[in-house]
Amino acid sequence: MVSRAPAAATAALCALLLVSAIAGQEVTLDDDARTGQKKTRDEDVSRDAFELAASKGYEVEEHPRVTTRDGYILKMIRIVGSPKRNSAEQGPCPGTWENPPVLLQHGLIDSAATWVMNMPKQSLGFVLADQGYDVWLGNNRGNSYSMEHERLQGNSNGRDEGFWDFSWDEMAEYDLPAEIDYVLKTTGAQTLSYISHSQGTAQGFAAFSENPELARKVGVHVALAPVAFVGSTDSALFQVASYLPFLKEVATLPAVQSLGNTLLGTGVGANIVKSLVPGICNVFLGGCDSEKNPRDPHNELFDSGLMGNLFSLPDMTHLNQTRIPVYLSHLPEGTSVRNLLHWAQSVRTNKFQKYDFGPAENQQRYGQEDPPEYDLLAYSVPTLLIYGSKDPIANRKDVRRLARVFQQTGVLLGTMEIPTYDHNDFTLAADGFEFFFEYVLDRVEGAACAAEGGEGAGEEGAGEEEADAQDWRGVLQTGAGSFWTFLSEELSSVEEQELQDLVLEEGSLP
Ligand SMILES: *[C@@H]1O[C@H](CO)[C@@H](O)[C@H](O)[C@H]1NC(C)=O
Repeated sequence: MVSRAPAAATAALCALLLVSAIAGQEVTLDDDARTGQKKTRDEDVSRDAFELAASKGYEVEEHPRVTTRDGYILKMIRIVGSPKRNSAEQGPCPGTWENPPVLLQHGLIDSAATWVMNMPKQSLGFVLADQGYDVWLGNNRGNSYSMEHERLQGNSNGRDEGFWDFSWDEMAEYDLPAEIDYVLKTTGAQTLSYISHSQGTAQGFAAFSENPELARKVGVHVALAPVAFVGSTDSALFQVASYLPFLKEVATLPAVQSLGNTLLGTGVGANIVKSLVPGICNVFLGGCDSEKNPRDPHNELFDSGLMGNLFSLPDMTHLNQTRIPVYLSHLPEGTSVRNLLHWAQSVRTNKFQKYDFGPAENQQRYGQEDPPEYDLLAYSVPTLLIYGSKDPIANRKDVRRLARVFQQTGVLLGTMEIPTYDHNDFTLAADGFEFFFEYVLDRVEGAACAAEGGEGAGEEGAGEEEADAQDWRGVLQTGAGSFWTFLSEELSSVEEQELQDLVLEEGSLP
């Protein structure tokens, strides 16, 4: 087992070297059939989250100084207006709050851009703005939007002085409360809806479990590709990562950490990947062009495993392949070495717990030798779990384990399994509207309109929410859509034993 990690690392290195040899060519799309002219590079490739939204006609604001209690300065992006609406138009809750706020939180090595990366109808950020929501896109510490600190430097100048000493524990403890409080303060709303992807879900599960006051500010949590438990992951990348701790002595050496953080966090590593894009497309696809290369899940690019592992997209049935250069210009984003180590620990332990510093430092920081588990039984936000059967990271088995906990504590609003989706389809797929957008909009509307407590549509929403909280199975039957499947009787019977065990293990239910 142990020898797999170096082997994989060597393979990855060879792949990188191979592609770097042919990197750096200009991305050219199809020759235009009529004029014979080369189409130019896709302009979205060089756009950040703000520019992606602005270029599609949305009214966007940058909020560059959302400061956390521990001094990190996060940049949030806000979409305040949609080209599909005029400002006099009523919001989603007529007669009540005009534009209820929704906070969207990205996943690991990702950013705000992930919510606005596709064309308007295909991107959840745009779709929410079209419906009249006040859309806020968060950016966690250490990605390229959030590289500032009141005191510490985050740059590669050798003075990083602790800037990179964080994992998703800190994103839960500091970043999320800072963002939520900022949104509520700016908008004057009492609560918001929280939509998260991947690590963003863990961030929410952790933050709302630990901080009941924060949890009360969140009307609904829509968790896409949820990852509290990741012990069953069959992502090769995650599995390799889980072997990292045997290299832990190396990975935690200050010099190695500093180099790693520089590569990861300041985007040097990401830039290497980005510079490889044209080469990757040319070698494996014969060009980044979906017409010449119609959607084929078994094409060489994915047989090579490179893209599949990089993006957790083992097949790309749902992807607009012509946009791969755009995705690659945003993924991967920066983060810290410790954050990756924390995920590696999560795979190994299969527990939803804080970063393991080793017995001595754990004792100092946590007052116990083992890192404390997050108490999911204390988590109180009504939650939807939406996941894909083909997701190697938010593996079905792990998600269902979480669903059992939430069902037991009464916070599970519903679950949805999309049979053909994998991990990053929840943000990158061009066909989210066919699968889960409607369901998300419906649930967010219910919570947002109920929260504003108005009459008319708001009342109906409130009634719905209550009924659902009492009988989560009701929700399972409400969805309409071609490929939706829902967890049902099967889950309650077959896994009853499993759940009992889990609850007993956790030991705090009556
Ligand atoms: C696919 O991506 C290309 C390149 O960004 C874009 O021009 C095109 O409109 C997209 N296709 C669809 C169907 O959205």
